[in-house]
Amino acid sequence: MFILQHLPIVCLVLSGLICVVSSSCSSKLEHSLFDDLIGMMLKLKGTGNGGQGNISTKKDTPAFTAYRNSVQTLSSNAIVKFDKLWTNNLNAYDLTTGVFTAPMPGLYHFSAVVMSEDGKTLFLHLWHNDIKTAGSYTQGDGYKTGTFDVVLNLKKGDRIYIRCKGGHDSQTIYSNVDNYSTFSGYIIAK
Ligand SMILES: *[C@@H]1O[C@H](CO)[C@@H](O)[C@H](O)[C@H]1NC(C)=O
Ligand SMILES: *[C@@H]1O[C@H](CO)[C@@H](O)[C@H](O)[C@H]1NC(C)=O
Repeated sequence: MFILQHLPIVCLVLSGLICVVSSSCSSKLEHSLFDDLIGMMLKLKGTGNGGQGNISTKKDTPAFTAYRNSVQTLSSNAIVKFDKLWTNNLNAYDLTTGVFTAPMPGLYHFSAVVMSEDGKTLFLHLWHNDIKTAGSYTQGDGYKTGTFDVVLNLKKGDRIYIRCKGGHDSQTIYSNVDNYSTFSGYIIAK
């Protein structure tokens, strides 16, 4: 019985470290050893930065929010130009074309808010290269907002943009100094 009581009951080997908890440990000591063990496991899971995973720096994280503060008149198939920027890490969004080009492969989230003018139709799609994804259709009296919200797996060089539906000329996307129309995207995982 004496011997049994002093036999180690838990023996863990983790990155060369041996942790022995004997049955005679006070429960306070056991808790502290347990906390150390959890801490070590989290560190191993991440890359040694305190268990928070492989955090990227802002510098290598594609992320943008572009907006308009004025009306854009759109002809059929025209790309919406969100021509002002709040954020454009890695410069992957091009103000002059309205196109985001993936600087690296990954899982990305895109969202947009597009306002239509009173009494006018606004029919748009979010495009992934040459393929349409989500659509937004607003129409009728009052200023209305359409939204986009998609998660896409992109290859390096894939292009994402918002474009006017074909056959729908002289549409307008509305905005003014209150910055109503916005387009955002960022990487979720590499
Ligand atoms: C963490 O990031 C670095 C630098 O980008 C990379 O070399 C490494 O493979 C990443 N580790 C994991 C576990 O993803
Ligand atoms: C629109 O955004 C710009 C840039 O951040 C800001 O200076 C301006 O005040 C915003 N407009 C309004 C009405 O807040």
